[in-house]
Amino acid sequence: MAPLRIATRLVLVLSAAVAAVVLAYSLISIEQRATLLRDALIRETETLARTLQIVAENDAGESGGEELNRVLEGVLADPETYAAVTIDDAERVLSGGTDGGTDGGTECLDAILRDLPSTTAEAQGWTECDERVRWVLLPSGTAGAAVLLARRATLLERDVNASRLRLLLLTLVLAGTAAIVIFFVLHRALSAPLGEILRGVHLLGTAGGAERVVVPPAAGELHELGAAFNRMADQLDARRRSLLRQGAERLAMERQLREAETFAVAGRLTGGVLHELGSPLAVIGMRVDAIADHAAATPQLRSQSEAIRAELDRIAKLIEGLMRITRHHEIALEPVDVAGIVRAVVAELQPRCREAGIEPLLRLPGFPIMVSGHAVLIRHAIFNLANNAVQALARHPGEKRLIFRVERQETAVCVVVEDTGPGIPMHHLERVFEPFFTTKGISGGTGLGLGISRSIAEEHGGTLSIGPGADGGTRAALELPAERAF
Ligand SMILES: Nc1ncnc2c1ncn2[C@@H]1O[C@H](COP(=O)(O)OP(=O)(O)OP(=O)(O)O)[C@@H](O)[C@H]1O
Ligand SMILES: [Mg+2]
Repeated sequence: MAPLRIATRLVLVLSAAVAAVVLAYSLISIEQRATLLRDALIRETETLARTLQIVAENDAGESGGEELNRVLEGVLADPETYAAVTIDDAERVLSGGTDGGTDGGTECLDAILRDLPSTTAEAQGWTECDERVRWVLLPSGTAGAAVLLARRATLLERDVNASRLRLLLLTLVLAGTAAIVIFFVLHRALSAPLGEILRGVHLLGTAGGAERVVVPPAAGELHELGAAFNRMADQLDARRRSLLRQGAERLAMERQLREAETFAVAGRLTGGVLHELGSPLAVIGMRVDAIADHAAATPQLRSQSEAIRAELDRIAKLIEGLMRITRHHEIALEPVDVAGIVRAVVAELQPRCREAGIEPLLRLPGFPIMVSGHAVLIRHAIFNLANNAVQALARHPGEKRLIFRVERQETAVCVVVEDTGPGIPMHHLERVFEPFFTTKGISGGTGLGLGISRSIAEEHGGTLSIGPGADGGTRAALELPAERAF
């Protein structure tokens, strides 16, 4: 059997205590009442017996017993009188009699007479036959006969029994009422607040720690317990969030370290190769140009030379990008208006936007926003971000919104490029800065754009972050230190 709840136990104990107190109080009252009634019966019987004795004495001299018989009949007519008799010294009944008793006999009178010590001395007592009677014997005086009066205690017993029944009902009603009142008081003061705190404790581990308990101030100490629980839950919540944050930061740091290591190794290996490639490529370029410019060159030869020149330019660009990612360069800083650069980039991309049905929105202040930087590099970085957004929106069937914002912060300037394109899946997000990571296929992109932009940001002492946009899509934020005094 499941153990009883605290409130149920308290209801039972308190109700039992109330019932016990009521019962004890009532029993004492009944006992007092029974004593009072018993005393009254004793006094009444004695007084009535003395009256009979006076009548008997008067009557003996005057009417020869007629008056006494009439009075005895009158006394016997009272349902409480069991026997009213006069007896001689041999205990024989001279006048009067019994009312017949419950069984019509004289059993009780016989029993009283049997127990009588004598008829010459005054005596009184209780006799228990088929009913309980109080009797009084007054000895013979001038009348020459003793008076014996016996009266029933039925009224007294009926009264006591009725009181007992009332007591039982009263106890039941009071105990029931007490149980209901105690239940409601305990429910409000104990069960409900305890249940609420218990619910909070259960949910603490399951609901991500967001659960708090509401215990009304009327619950006293339990209200304080609820408040203490909420404070503890807040602390746990803060600790859990800080652990999660630390975990995420550690992961990000480990990833950055891995990337940095990869870049460093790749940089050392490729740096030299790329540097060595520069001179032969320049020579090839010059030779190709010479062939194309030669007077004897046919149109076919010229077009072949131009194709080679285009590929050479592409290789040179790739090398330049790789060199930027793998090695940071010292750059010459000058005051640059970032808002102006954003306008220039948007103007450059405008034809492609029109073609793809993209409407760029510029949220820029009407005045220049200055940073200390390298205008060409900053333009290159912003162009890469905008170019990615245009490419993503061009192949996106849904809404095509492209927003540019330049925000002046306390010590930095933030350029935000936000699109409503397909967004970047979580498992790609952590790889977008890796060199050669692209989802655009071999002919689509080199996978160097974001890496180059981040290197440019870092060369300026800034950062580049990329993540989900407010309305889906992607949000890229390039943060550059605000202009310093030169
Ligand atoms: N705004 C964007 N919306 C959706 N995906 C994006 C966005 N920006 C970047 N990406 C994803 O990040 C990848 C890497 O971008 P990154 O600019 O470095 O290279 P790329 O655009 O593929 O090639 P490129 O070197 O020509 O820029 C992309 O291939 C694309 O999957
Ligand atoms: Mg790109």
